Amino acid sequence: MQAASQMKLTRGQIIQQLIDSKAFRTYLEIGVFKGKNFLPIRAERKIGVDPAFRIKLSRRLGWLFRNATNLKAEYFEQTSDSFFQNVAPGLIQKSSLDVCLVDGMHEYEYALRDVEHALEYLQQDGVIIMHDCNPASAQAGCTFEQWKAGNFAWDWNGDVWKAILHLRSLRNDIDVFVLDTDMGLGVVAKRPPQQQLNFTKEQIQALTYDDLAANRASWLNLKPAPYIFSYFGI
Ligand SMILES: C[S@@+](CC[C@H](N)C(=O)[O-])C[C@H]1O[C@@H](n2cnc3c(N)ncnc32)[C@H](O)[C@@H]1O
Repeated sequence: MQAASQMKLTRGQIIQQLIDSKAFRTYLEIGVFKGKNFLPIRAERKIGVDPAFRIKLSRRLGWLFRNATNLKAEYFEQTSDSFFQNVAPGLIQKSSLDVCLVDGMHEYEYALRDVEHALEYLQQDGVIIMHDCNPASAQAGCTFEQWKAGNFAWDWNGDVWKAILHLRSLRNDIDVFVLDTDMGLGVVAKRPPQQQLNFTKEQIQALTYDDLAANRASWLNLKPAPYIFSYFGI
């Protein structure tokens, strides 16, 4: 039998358990693609943002029957930057966002901006989950240009991990750790940081995948997947 500390959980399982246990209402997903994660999530209010949704009509209809909370789901076909600049201020009340999945463009600056924007709307006990924080190989952690040149042939995590280092170094108002599951799920909460790093932005920009590989557990503040449940008291 698998020890609880080694249990692997998906982003969807974790998000749903948080929504159910904490009576969370509002869910925002940045980067939806085919809706593999978005469509099954049950929440009173679901908002999806993607400049290029790839949800087939038949799939969307099927999920209306399987999960009635999709009836009211709101879709915004644009980049997250455009969404946060033009739509979010009139759509989401400050301090009303309960859970946000950041899973759009997997590059340091993009992921960082998405988290910083989402924090403006997050309620005090809410949570931001960041996908792709723990690339298992240099290939998974390559640049977008390399991934494109490889014809998008493998799972790409990019350098989202640098956004974790940035948040842990340069924000003293949030707590950040990464769950060792589902390619690394970053967790961002509005709590004082338990441990900070002291990188500058310039240092982070210069780091390589090999640097991450040599310091993975401490730099990412890596935790076993079930840690998130005790962290949120559920
Ligand atoms: C890995 S997929 C998302 C997967 C989805 N969250 C899931 O769990 O099934 C990444 C998505 O991010 C979208 N994306 C790329 N650039 C983006 C941006 N600037 N803003 C928002 N989404 C973006 C892509 O179109 C793509 O659909």
